[in-house]
Amino acid sequence: MNFEYTEEHLAVRDAAREFAQAELLPGVIERDTEAKFPTEQIKKMGELGFMGMMVDPKYNGGGMDTVSYVLAMEEISKIDASASVSMSVNNSLVCWGLEKYGNEEQKEKYLKPLASGEIIGAFCLSEPEAGSDATSQKTEAVLDGDHYILNGTKNWITNGNTASVYLVIAQTDVSKGHKGISAFIVEKGLDGFIVGKKEDKLGIRGSDTHSLMFTDVKVPVANRIGEEGFGFTFAMETLNGGRIGIAAQALGIASGAYELALAYSKERKAFGKTISQHQAIQFKLADMATSIEAARLLVYKSAVLKDQGKDYAYASAMAKLYASQVAMDVTVEAVQVHGGYGYVKEYHVERLMRDAKITQIYEGTSEIQKIVISRSILR
Ligand code: CAA
Ligand code: FAD
Repeated sequence: MNFEYTEEHLAVRDAAREFAQAELLPGVIERDTEAKFPTEQIKKMGELGFMGMMVDPKYNGGGMDTVSYVLAMEEISKIDASASVSMSVNNSLVCWGLEKYGNEEQKEKYLKPLASGEIIGAFCLSEPEAGSDATSQKTEAVLDGDHYILNGTKNWITNGNTASVYLVIAQTDVSKGHKGISAFIVEKGLDGFIVGKKEDKLGIRGSDTHSLMFTDVKVPVANRIGEEGFGFTFAMETLNGGRIGIAAQALGIASGAYELALAYSKERKAFGKTISQHQAIQFKLADMATSIEAARLLVYKSAVLKDQGKDYAYASAMAKLYASQVAMDVTVEAVQVHGGYGYVKEYHVERLMRDAKITQIYEGTSEIQKIVISRSILR
């Protein structure tokens, strides 16, 4: 076993850390309060190569491994989880899905601008009445000559308004169950494609979450990803990697809150000494540090398995399940270490606590991760 980072890993981590401090930290409280999408910051992240990190350079990507991606996700998420969810969706759902399963024409047309960050993408599986139970979705694509006619509603779509390209999962033959679901590339601006209002959320408030309505939208057959009936497998395989990104996001939220709590505990005095000299606070810090380290090992393991081409579905589910719980536990304790100051926006930890919750919900709730893990164990 080798627990060493390579020089490239450290360079990526440091670049992401510097960017987050210099470009994301200023204004993060205002963006959260005003639910404002980090437009300029995401543009710069594209220019720095953070939006298509693992994509082959021949498609304008960074050609990096998953460990580098995880390190960058952690650093960005320490400061701004609204920015990091855009990064995660673009990298590990949209770009990965297109690179792995798209054809050459689709990669030229869509993957190249997505990987360079020139445009961003969205991944559209969930519906108002089908979230965890993803096969029971109602969006339908009916073949009509050289087009499909797409009708239905997708819900909770990250990058919903900002994206230019949407990977949409839809029924093409409902009688075939999950084998009658297909995946399509849908461009913004097509007739009948309407973006709904932005959701007003507890956390990741800057993130751009919208419902999408499709009414008789004409999608070219050339924009189908893989064969008809491949869409559910496409979604599941893509989410296996996406969950590594969200696990890294949870790890970053936890680490960010821990670092703030550690620093504060060494400054704040009570009963004649710093609160870090009280054993109750020391034990909180010890628990935080231990659980973060355990989460980090699970996240890295899933990334390494993916890089080695081994089965990583169960490992990414474990990493997301555990890291998201750690994010919740650590952020709550970080607020506690800050006392009353933790409860106000200026000290950042209350935002991290609100941001942490979503990591237990999206890309499969914690209950769904347990289904994935238990099916793998019992197989
Ligand atoms: N990897 C690969 N294949 C998988 C898989 C996985 N993790 N999970 C299921 N499959 C395959 C199965 O092998 C099966 O295929 P075969 O019949 O060919 O063997 C097929 O999918 C159907 O599987 P199940 O019978 O197990 O299906 P199910 O209806 O019982 O549901 C589920 C399985 C795991 C619960 C699945 O529906 C699921 O993952 N639900 C959660 C959906 C989700 O994660 N949504 C996230 C949306 S994107 C998002 O959230 C982005 C964001 O926030 C930023
Ligand atoms: P439900 O599926 O209705 O679940 C409700 C509760 O029941 C949960 O606790 C769940 O765990 C539990 N439950 C359901 N089934 C079972 C079961 N079989 N066993 C045990 N417990 C069960 N989706 C996208 O497609 N693309 C996106 O970009 C995207 N971004 C999102 C961003 C945000 C901010 C949010 C809030 C959601 C986003 N989602 C996105 C949707 C997200 O993936 C779903 O919300 C999630 O999968 C859960 O689905 P649901 O909300 O319908 O809850």
